[in-house]
Amino acid sequence: MRKQAILITGASGEIGQALVQSLHEQGSLPIIALDIQPLPEGMRQLVTPLQGDILDRSLLSRLISEYEIVTLFHLAALLSTRAEFTPEAAHRVNVEGTLSLLQLAAEQSEWRGEPVKFIFPSSIAAYGLPDLETKTSYARVREWEWNYPRTMYGCNKLYCEQLGIYFSKHYRQLAADRPVMLDFRCVRFPGLISAFTVPSGGTSDYGPEMLHAAAQGIPYDCFVREDVRIPFMVMPDAIKALLMLTQAPQENLKRQVFNVTSFSLSAEEFRQRVLVHFPAAQITYKPDLKRQGIVDSWPADLDDSAACRQWDWQPDYDADRSFDEYLVPNITRRYQVVNEP
Ligand SMILES: NC(=O)c1ccc[n+]([C@@H]2O[C@H](COP(=O)([O-])OP(=O)(O)OC[C@H]3O[C@@H](n4cnc5c(N)ncnc54)[C@H](O)[C@@H]3O)[C@@H](O)[C@H]2O)c1
Repeated sequence: MRKQAILITGASGEIGQALVQSLHEQGSLPIIALDIQPLPEGMRQLVTPLQGDILDRSLLSRLISEYEIVTLFHLAALLSTRAEFTPEAAHRVNVEGTLSLLQLAAEQSEWRGEPVKFIFPSSIAAYGLPDLETKTSYARVREWEWNYPRTMYGCNKLYCEQLGIYFSKHYRQLAADRPVMLDFRCVRFPGLISAFTVPSGGTSDYGPEMLHAAAQGIPYDCFVREDVRIPFMVMPDAIKALLMLTQAPQENLKRQVFNVTSFSLSAEEFRQRVLVHFPAAQITYKPDLKRQGIVDSWPADLDDSAACRQWDWQPDYDADRSFDEYLVPNITRRYQVVNEP
């Protein structure tokens, strides 16, 4: 008998660590945590850790010979800035890696006679607005608008959303017998901020970087202009969104890709909030015109009304609560602990 399990790829990353913690607290099925990087020491006993590459087909075959995957959270990816430096490698990990996992989930669905839930985090990077004038006039962008990404990462996300839909609706559509197909569900996240992990390789990182630098008393040069505005969300809400979408009754879902968001801030509004809590913070602007150009192409806000209607999505943290109750106390504690002798 194969053991039922949840598979998380990219489990050692920012979202992965928070998701492992949350699923463990809920008392979920056993979790297989696959990542090319090791999980932090303190988390390994919560899961079955598996260090390896999602592009390693033999590793994936061994995995399904031992486990019955019921739900798959596919988080492993190369993020937007990193992907722009190595676009071909990003395509391999983000697209070919996703294709392999969709195939794995398709086979598992067929073998079990029941759909495997395939949960995929897409991104605001799937959008691409041509200029600032358009960005101002289309304040809250809906899922099907402005799907013209200008980064490799955004292209990868948009295409993988379509691949996921294909595998869940049209896979083997000309075969004599239609297979049991997987159940693909996707959220498009805004920039995420965690109090416990420091981001790397993303293009919305200037927000969390300001905060983490301020809490450590390190000066920070923000890489976008002060008026640049995008939506953000704190990690507890990101995990809440992933879990709510996973648990939503299939019959309530009229689409498979959903925007989710919580609050939208300009870089200067973000800086002012950081200064309220860390008045000595030294945050200046030193725009990197290329990275800023990418952020300028992302919407100022997302319309998440479909998620609100179809699976009762509501963030728990608005901007005030995010800073006052989650970010500032936890980030302060994190660096106090680190700095203590
Ligand atoms: N953090 C954000 O703001 C944000 C926003 C939107 C969407 N997302 C998406 O959420 C997912 C997780 O993001 P994150 O913020 O935790 O990123 P992260 O970079 O912290 O984590 C990604 C993890 O994937 C792993 N990984 C990369 N290549 C791999 C490979 N070939 N095989 C196995 N593991 C590999 C990395 O080691 C890393 O631990 C990604 O798909 C990302 O695109 C993140």
